[in-house]
Amino acid sequence: MKLFVDTGDIEEVKRAAEWGVLDGVTTNPTLIAKSGKGFKETVLAICEAVPGGDISAEVVATDYDTMLKEALEIASWHPQIVVKVPLIEPGVRLVKTLSDKGIKTNVTLVFTVGQALMAAKAGATYISNFVGRVDDLATDGMNAVTETVEMVATYGYRSEVLVASVRHPLHVLQAIQSGAHVATMPLKVIEALFKHPLTDSGLQRFLDDWNKAGLSIFEK
Ligand code: E4P
Repeated sequence: MKLFVDTGDIEEVKRAAEWGVLDGVTTNPTLIAKSGKGFKETVLAICEAVPGGDISAEVVATDYDTMLKEALEIASWHPQIVVKVPLIEPGVRLVKTLSDKGIKTNVTLVFTVGQALMAAKAGATYISNFVGRVDDLATDGMNAVTETVEMVATYGYRSEVLVASVRHPLHVLQAIQSGAHVATMPLKVIEALFKHPLTDSGLQRFLDDWNKAGLSIFEK
């Protein structure tokens, strides 16, 4: 499964990239606004920090003609850029146009398998299925992910299912169980994936025993 970090903060991207397990970055208008920096400079810095990774940058217009202009502008900034497009009617039309031109797309704000079908048929590279925002409404957000993974496999669409709006490690476990292709998450969720108390206590015991015995890897 591909692992993306969901942030507009370049320092967070650099920290996640250091581990060597990061496949890409997702941003959205809220995250870019929170970064306090310009859109283009932030996206370009992210591309540089994650060589070869897929970096999602979102259009903000809601009519087809302006969305297309924005998409072509954003896509021209760097070859790693994936144009993020909301799942609205002109958005689906835009994804088809971009897909025909060989430009990668990430269809965002997808909540149902019906919406995902529209994105898949338009040729979306990624379908971003939001989980946490549905859980917030006391409904299981992972259901639509499972249905979408099945739909894509059944009909052989090339789109990858991207689990978004991930809030905690359990969402990551559920994403893996569903067979989703990608999960994007805040840095703090990636950091939590490393952690287990038995890892910490186990390591401490290994080191204590080693040191007590006076051993060294580099023998004198
Ligand atoms: C994904 O691309 C979105 O930017 C993100 O996952 C939204 O997460 P949120 O619901 O926690 O804002």
